[in-house]
Amino acid sequence: MLVALDSVGSTNDEAARLADSGAPEGTVVWAREQHGGRGRRGRSWASPPGNLYSSTILRPECPAARAAELGFVAALAVGDLVPASRAIRLKWPNDVLVDGGKIAGILLESAIAQDGRVEHVVAGIGINVAFAPQLAEMRYPGASLGGTVEAALEGLTRALATRLAQWRRDGFGVVREAWLAQAGPLGAEVDVRLGEGLVRGRFAGLDHEGALLLDTAEGPRKIVSGELLGRAA
Ligand code: BTN
Repeated sequence: MLVALDSVGSTNDEAARLADSGAPEGTVVWAREQHGGRGRRGRSWASPPGNLYSSTILRPECPAARAAELGFVAALAVGDLVPASRAIRLKWPNDVLVDGGKIAGILLESAIAQDGRVEHVVAGIGINVAFAPQLAEMRYPGASLGGTVEAALEGLTRALATRLAQWRRDGFGVVREAWLAQAGPLGAEVDVRLGEGLVRGRFAGLDHEGALLLDTAEGPRKIVSGELLGRAA
């Protein structure tokens, strides 16, 4: 089901509301503009008309600890929309860079039942289609996909269904390998912001749950949540 809106606060909020009232997996909320678009880490997401703002309800029936895997599934789906002529780079955890600029952002929000299983996940995806907003807080230049919002929505819906089926059928190991194939090279120097602190190290891949692995001067380190500042991974 597609819920198409001219304007909304945040498509994620609308999708969560629908999920709470029983909407099935695959329900997509799409808005031409958002006036309260949200990004990761409490940031806002500029959402004027021209770019894609959509949220898809997922019902993965997995423990809460596995919900983050869907961010990698979504990033691969966004990457599937990018023509082969352009250089794509996936950046932990969920960013998609094209020709060195951020083309999309992904915000996963989950509802967890009392028994620890996921009730639903809302996969909110913003793709720069017509233009790349340049915000002071952005550490990368923006990039845009081109084409129409309608074509991007159709392609994304298809790609997300395909990547989700791959995750269900083959497991996170296969998703992880596909993601790593489009990420920065192992061994690249990266900085990761953890709250106020910064960890410096070399990119050493992802663990079996999607945590970032770093080789630091103090030894190997696993990072579950943070912001990667290096461009390489
Ligand atoms: C990021 O910080 O990179 C994630 C940005 C996610 C933006 C999308 S746009 C559609 C959905 N609705 C929101 O309010 N946010 C997500």
